[in-house]
Amino acid sequence: MADDPLFEKLGKSAAAGEVLFRDGEAGEVMYVIRQGRVRIVTEVEVEGPKKKVRKQLAILGPGDFFGEMAILNDKPRTATAEVIEDAKLLVIDGDTLGAMIKQNTEIAVRLVKRLARRLDSANAIIDLLMHRDPKARTILGLAHEAEFNGVREDDGSVRVPTSRRALAQQVGLAEPEVDAVLQRLQRLRILEVQPDGEFRIPDVMRLHEFLEFLQMRERYGEP
Ligand code: CMP
Repeated sequence: MADDPLFEKLGKSAAAGEVLFRDGEAGEVMYVIRQGRVRIVTEVEVEGPKKKVRKQLAILGPGDFFGEMAILNDKPRTATAEVIEDAKLLVIDGDTLGAMIKQNTEIAVRLVKRLARRLDSANAIIDLLMHRDPKARTILGLAHEAEFNGVREDDGSVRVPTSRRALAQQVGLAEPEVDAVLQRLQRLRILEVQPDGEFRIPDVMRLHEFLEFLQMRERYGEP
């Protein structure tokens, strides 16, 4: 980040594995990612207060920001942020954020757009959790990950940086239930599982069409 006056003033380098802050801590700064990747995770209680699972909320990359909620709402951190790929970050406190927004309204517009997108993502999760059927839940979960965290490749396919385990947690199902759906999608060539366990969806439209097909069949029975 040589010749970057903003980075010289506000920059911080963080190595993969570093936890920037944890769920529940007080927070006075937000971060903007210049380089690298950061995972946002939270711990949710399942089947009573004793059992907790880590739930991945997002993987963020260059241009993304996080940690803004604590400074905007004056509340503790709502999730944990851990660096998963060596990162260069801008560290911005509330006063600096206020000054930046006054100087450059574009920053405020970007902030509002990101927050609206996050709300959109949260609404999609609420929507998928309304479905009882594990097939619909899993497919909507995959479609959600493709839309909000997917990486579009040149050939139009989407690489989805999640795992079967993370997906099962995301959609609130046991892994074997999710596996059964994933295997069916693989047989139909709607989904590919990469050697590193991540997913690739050659054509996202086909995923949606398959869900529509399942829902029609459920409503009207076998043709
Ligand atoms: P904050 O609550 O300060 O600390 C945790 C941060 O994680 C939070 O600010 C947001 O920036 C980020 N975060 C919380 N929930 C989500 C989510 N659902 N998707 C993406 N980022 C989130």
